[in-house]
Amino acid sequence: MSDLRITNLTEEELHRFMPDLVRLYERAYAHLPEYGYHLPQRIEGYIRWLFRGDPKGFFVAFLGERIAGFIGVHAQWWEGRELFGEVHEFVVDPDFQGKGIGSTLFNHALAYLEKAGRTKIGLWVGEKNEHAIAFYLRRGFQKASQYGKWVRMIKEVSTPVSPRDSRETPSSSGSKR
Ligand SMILES: CC(C)(COP(=O)(O)OP(=O)(O)OC[C@H]1O[C@@H](n2cnc3c(N)ncnc32)[C@H](O)[C@@H]1OP(=O)(O)O)[C@@H](O)C(=O)NCCC(=O)NCCS
Repeated sequence: MSDLRITNLTEEELHRFMPDLVRLYERAYAHLPEYGYHLPQRIEGYIRWLFRGDPKGFFVAFLGERIAGFIGVHAQWWEGRELFGEVHEFVVDPDFQGKGIGSTLFNHALAYLEKAGRTKIGLWVGEKNEHAIAFYLRRGFQKASQYGKWVRMIKEVSTPVSPRDSRETPSSSGSKR
């Protein structure tokens, strides 16, 4: 995976790569039909919605010239009265799953959300999507609630506090993770 590159897209690139992104999404959800959109136009509209909501939170994984996966997060997402960094979509091409691309994309997105100051990361995942649920549990997410077939998972993180901004000594401050 030495030629793996994670990057944001410009509007022009989003337009140019849209057919690839739609195909990738369709392939990734082929075995999970109850949790994905089906009509290409609907998928395209959804991808545009992801991008417009937070262009800097839309990360694409390129393997050479080929798109291997993407993740769409929004750094300011209100769920009820709580502010979250929200992971809305996360897909890796089935040809490339299980090779660490998902982990690399996910780490990029979480680093972005934490840098934006979010201390709560949230997502919704299908209740039978055991692979994804296990992925999130292994990364410190916990099941918080359920709405129909959707499970709410949350991870609380603490952004490191600079000693200058805190009364704590450097040795007693820092991340809980
Ligand atoms: C969830 C998803 C994005 C993960 O992407 P990925 O590239 O496979 O992720 P990784 O390669 O980093 O591996 C994920 C984990 O699964 C393990 N794994 C690898 N191959 C596996 C396989 N064939 N079966 C089960 N687990 C496997 C890896 O060891 C890794 O374990 P870790 O969590 O201990 O690191 C991908 O499975 C996917 O696109 N799923 C369909 C869409 C989806 O469900 N998205 C989430 C919506 S909420």
